[in-house]
Amino acid sequence: MPGSRVARRRRYLVCEPRHFAVRYAINPWMHPDLPVDVSLAQRQWRTLIGVYRDHGHTVETVNPEPGLPDMVFAANAAVVVEGRVFGSLFSAPERRPESVPYEAWFKSEGFEVQHPESVCEGEGDLVPAGRWILAGTGFRTTREAHREVQEFFGVPVIGLTLVDPYFYHLDTALFVLDDENIAYYPDAFSPGSREVLGRLYPDAVIATREDAMAFGLNSVSDGRHVFIAPEATALAGRLADRGYVPVPVDLSEFHKAGGGIKCCTQEIRS
Ligand code: ARG
Repeated sequence: MPGSRVARRRRYLVCEPRHFAVRYAINPWMHPDLPVDVSLAQRQWRTLIGVYRDHGHTVETVNPEPGLPDMVFAANAAVVVEGRVFGSLFSAPERRPESVPYEAWFKSEGFEVQHPESVCEGEGDLVPAGRWILAGTGFRTTREAHREVQEFFGVPVIGLTLVDPYFYHLDTALFVLDDENIAYYPDAFSPGSREVLGRLYPDAVIATREDAMAFGLNSVSDGRHVFIAPEATALAGRLADRGYVPVPVDLSEFHKAGGGIKCCTQEIRS
């Protein structure tokens, strides 16, 4: 039913890519010897922020810190549900210091922050989806963290095992369309996890490997508009068939670090 989807206004937290670079390799996308065009990255990022604002969303920023080239990936810094903030404990030592400025930002905004005891990478692996939280493990966030998250929020956490190193975070293999549905790439998951997703979401939008490799699943949906990588054309077509409105935004420079639209976007859910 095209046209029937309803957008809900969102509050996003982002971090300007002033110090963005690929200096170390912690996923298969990262090649420190290949150049990154920082001014192109900044233009692409500013376009994304402009598009969010044009669609009525609130965008807030945390100050980037020198020496933290992945800090632009705000999604990894926390997961926020009903105004409660569960922070991050990054797997890679290079990223661990990012928690400090992000947690400071949340505290300065009046939020209390729970700091995890086990490795946990925020919305990279913890994806609130209506009545439950979908939680990835296999590369970064641990099962122990899933337990901590369920205990903290009192929301059921559904553990899903990722098996393909190109899709090392759950938000590279799956995104939430609205409270009822998701889009995902089945082969990124273990057989049992695929079955779980099939039971929970029999009407899910299924993506191809090409869509997934184009960061098409690292998308952000407001319930109607889906901010999506322009190369994920098959997926965009399927979304349009279901009544969503794909809004292409090119963040290709960030793909060199293994990130895309969703990675750059933390949602603050009140
Ligand atoms: N270079 C970063 C890392 O490997 C990219 C993070 C992308 N963020 C995401 N939500 N998938 O940690």
